[in-house]
Amino acid sequence: MRRPLIAGNWKMNCLQADGRQLAQDVASYYKNQHNPAFDMLIAPPFTLLTACAQQVAGSGVLLSAQDCSPFDKGAHTGDVSPVMIKDLGAQTTILGHSERRTDHKETSAQVCEKAQAALAASLFVIICVGETLAQRENGQTLEVIAQQVQESLPQETTAENTVIAYEPVWAIGTGKTPTTAEVEEVHAFIREQIQKRFGAETADNIRILYGGSVKPSNAQELLSLPDVDGALIGGASLKAADFTAIAETVK
Ligand code: PGA
Repeated sequence: MRRPLIAGNWKMNCLQADGRQLAQDVASYYKNQHNPAFDMLIAPPFTLLTACAQQVAGSGVLLSAQDCSPFDKGAHTGDVSPVMIKDLGAQTTILGHSERRTDHKETSAQVCEKAQAALAASLFVIICVGETLAQRENGQTLEVIAQQVQESLPQETTAENTVIAYEPVWAIGTGKTPTTAEVEEVHAFIREQIQKRFGAETADNIRILYGGSVKPSNAQELLSLPDVDGALIGGASLKAADFTAIAETVK
């Protein structure tokens, strides 16, 4: 049985006061669950990781960065290393989000290098893949996903150290979502790719999240699909009430 993961990607949002409050609200919701059968995670910007580490301490809520350097330390102005992220109490980092692939021209090969560095620093990784609207309309979705999965995941990938997030680029922040059949098709396809490369046990146990305009009103139908093991939530994770309402659908 794969344990659902409800993950909030705050992106470049929140200042100290509202970030602390949001983390505290999520932490107190999760702490009040008795033996929760799902994981909950927040990914604040770097500026809030320390404050959020304090807020979620002892609650069981996992803490994630949104990116990391492929290097441990040294002359890399502006970058933050996975060792630093681990040092301040986070357990994981998102990698290869489409906004980084677009804004920073990150390639899957770079995502793979970052993943290797993060795994070496004992973080687990959340690796994002997804097709653009043009790619979907040209019938290239599965081809694009296969290539991103192949090139972004390092050889060290296991079901324990890696989570995959399928996020169609055209569904992020747009209010549009694929049909449930389209989501299930891609998730099952990703699992098949994992099985070919890493074997059946890894494929059966690795978690594949759906991301892109997940909100309380559509969470239930998306999260009940057989190969969907949780959600990576952007906009709706910035309101504790919406984020926790989404979590309620996997209980
Ligand atoms: P969204 O973002 O929920 O605002 O569509 C999801 C994401 O980019 O992770």
